[in-house]
Amino acid sequence: MRLIPVIAALLFATCTASKLPPPPPPDLINYDPDKDSLGASDAVIHRSNIFIHPRAEFPQWLTDITGLHQWPGLDAPYVSGMNFDFTGIPQFQQYDQRHCERTYGINSCSFDCGLCVGHNDIRHCHRLVQTFDDGPTADTPTLLHYLKGANRKVSFFVLGIQVVSFPEVFRSMHREGHLLATHTYGHTHLPSLTNEQIVAQLQWSIWVMNATAGVIPRFFRPPFGGVDNRVRAIAERLGLTVVVWDLDTNDWRLNDQSRSSDEIYGQVRVWKNNGVKGIMLEHDNTLFTVAAGIEIAEIVGKTDYTVADCNRKGTPWYQ
Ligand SMILES: *[C@@H]1O[C@H](CO)[C@@H](O)[C@H](O)[C@H]1NC(C)=O
Ligand SMILES: [Zn+2]
Repeated sequence: MRLIPVIAALLFATCTASKLPPPPPPDLINYDPDKDSLGASDAVIHRSNIFIHPRAEFPQWLTDITGLHQWPGLDAPYVSGMNFDFTGIPQFQQYDQRHCERTYGINSCSFDCGLCVGHNDIRHCHRLVQTFDDGPTADTPTLLHYLKGANRKVSFFVLGIQVVSFPEVFRSMHREGHLLATHTYGHTHLPSLTNEQIVAQLQWSIWVMNATAGVIPRFFRPPFGGVDNRVRAIAERLGLTVVVWDLDTNDWRLNDQSRSSDEIYGQVRVWKNNGVKGIMLEHDNTLFTVAAGIEIAEIVGKTDYTVADCNRKGTPWYQ
């Protein structure tokens, strides 16, 4: 337990010392079209090496709001008809990922530049909880199957574009009682974007979650940990609370083999054996990370905690 003041001191040092290079929160998205087992679909949107197979139905109510008839690509457009109220959104300058010299220190409170955590952000938990980003994918059902057998619930931070491509997997997540939260529509670093583009990234992800499983999320995890007070204010106006993490499993490094599963499991065992609590960052984007998620669940042991329970047990995760 003596570790905690040390960690707190370290975090404080990272937050206040503007000279320190920020640790880039690792986050990787690995689209592998060859691995997509769903086969041909009606339309394939192709941008660089990213293939999107829109399979979710585009509902009439969304056509009424947006004037569109199909799901957009990664750069979802801002829809002016929704009349988003931008008054009072703080005017912090946009900054690209790792361009932390453009942030305003403690005032803009960037998490990816300096690990600053907002008043309402959820970053810690008094249990060891698993969270999975970047799904749903073709590999998510393997994880769901395990979780169902073990009667366990976890928190999924889904990408709108992945929900568009794997709506039935998303509905299974919902049916099986997991917490569903947004990780934006197209996995962009939000502080790089204009206010309108940020609204679009969050709003379209909410729309597709609502259209596919009838859920409107209350929690939001920024891709790459990219969030500052401008992004927070916009998210809050959409009813979203920021959730980051304090325990990084680095499971995504399994995908490029820069970390072994033994190293990852060893780290999680250290947490477990030392009574460390917190929010673990994991992914359900490949068979490697899914297999790691299952093994980590075995190490952690049974818990029914989701991120919604971290402030107060039983807090609803939907709006
Ligand atoms: C959610 O979906 C319903 C239709 O099922 C629609 O009437 C409502 O406006 C949607 N709300 C949001 C926030 O997407
Ligand atoms: Zn991600």
